[in-house]
Amino acid sequence: MLRLKRIIPMLMALLMLALALYPGHGHAQQQNASSTSEKKTITVGLSADFAPYEFMMTVDGNSKIVGSDVMIAEEIAKDMGAELVIENMSFDSLIPSLQSGRIDMIISGMTPTDERRQNVDFSDLYYISRQVILTRSEDVDKYATMDALEGEQIGVQTGSIQEEIANDIPNAQVTSVKSISDVVSLLTSERVNAAVFEGPVAESQVNNRPGIAIAEAAPEDSDTPMAIAVQKGNTELTEQINVTLERLRATNAVDEFIRQANELSSGEEAPSNIFSFFWKYRGFYADGVQYTLLLSALGVLFGFLIGLLVALLRLSGVKVLKWIAVTYIEVLRGTPMLVQLLIIHFGLASAFDIRFTVLQSGIITLSINSSAYLAEIFRAGIQGVDRGQMEAARSLGMPRGMAMRTIIIPQAIKSVLPAIGNEFIVIIKESSIVSFIGVADLMFQANAVRTLTYSGLYPLVIAAVIYLIMTLILSKLLNVFERRLSAGDNR
Ligand code: ARG
Repeated sequence: MLRLKRIIPMLMALLMLALALYPGHGHAQQQNASSTSEKKTITVGLSADFAPYEFMMTVDGNSKIVGSDVMIAEEIAKDMGAELVIENMSFDSLIPSLQSGRIDMIISGMTPTDERRQNVDFSDLYYISRQVILTRSEDVDKYATMDALEGEQIGVQTGSIQEEIANDIPNAQVTSVKSISDVVSLLTSERVNAAVFEGPVAESQVNNRPGIAIAEAAPEDSDTPMAIAVQKGNTELTEQINVTLERLRATNAVDEFIRQANELSSGEEAPSNIFSFFWKYRGFYADGVQYTLLLSALGVLFGFLIGLLVALLRLSGVKVLKWIAVTYIEVLRGTPMLVQLLIIHFGLASAFDIRFTVLQSGIITLSINSSAYLAEIFRAGIQGVDRGQMEAARSLGMPRGMAMRTIIIPQAIKSVLPAIGNEFIVIIKESSIVSFIGVADLMFQANAVRTLTYSGLYPLVIAAVIYLIMTLILSKLLNVFERRLSAGDNR
């Protein structure tokens, strides 16, 4: 007969496995090899989709974040005697991450607008660029003036100043997406006809991709500066940054960085065969799988334990406890997991100063979300156990708790095992939403490869196949487990 005692070690084993697989320091790249733990670190946030300023490159199948902004970050770290850690995330997550203290500064081609200045402080300017209009090559003559863009479908990156520029074009239908590579995909797949871009970024795109071109139309007053953002009131850091920027300015270093970065960004050619494609980017996927397994294993473990507890509360004849359990279940089942994730990650940080790392936020969200579903599964299982079982146990003199633990729950879990298995599979798949806050899981890595290669299909198909392999293995294991358990049954 199935005993709780046997399930717990199994879950523990899962936990061990997950910890053994734990890749270490978040997905942050330790740029500096010398990592004495006392050494001060500075964490720079960026959105690595913005060649030549910040973008990803593959080196021996592994991802590396490079670009002129990264070179500036390295100089700042050097001057501060600190180790540089880079956090890659979506552009619109940068300011919330800085405000909640998860990163020390943003170097991501960010323009110091008045609106942003209300939330963060900026260093001196380090570069001035201009805005251009990117279109498909065949349409390039159509957009000679800004007037031609009126009422047009335009693509931009969410939270960028390009979004504001596009919104100011009369009647424009603006589509905002997370990353610059998605903007380019919108354009090439003819979902939009034009896109507002930072000049050097547009040039890098044009040089590396066929079929797109820069139009003659140019937004007015389009000189836009870039500066480094730090937390509001952190004048000490701002001053330190300005010293480095001043040093770089004296030698025109930033122009040189941009030139070097442009050289790096050309020539990443993605294989046209899906197998060699996978092989080339295997390092990304391998990293991602580790996080996905870790998140799912811990999500399952904590979800299981919390779920069981909530089910027992719900069934405990005590009114208040029951009410708490029902509320917990209803709230968690009735709200989107993405909303829960964002509340836990950004909401708690800004309202109560509770700052979980991206990984912690991901694990907490997955655990509590699945615990709500598991609680209902357990409840059904417990209620399905014949009443006579409890009565018999009690009449043998067993205390209620002991009867629950040794007689009822094991039978309950056994009967709902297929439903629990389903929930585990759901967790593996749903763990993909943590990529939203920047956990470098399988989904995140697939997006990274997408950004890197501009290939819309292969990176996602490969991720889908890997998810499928994981869930198939899990359901096989669950089948074996179930069969083992029923081997001794003579029902
Ligand atoms: N300069 C623009 C802005 O401040 C766009 C920056 C986008 N940066 C990026 N790494 N995607 O809004």
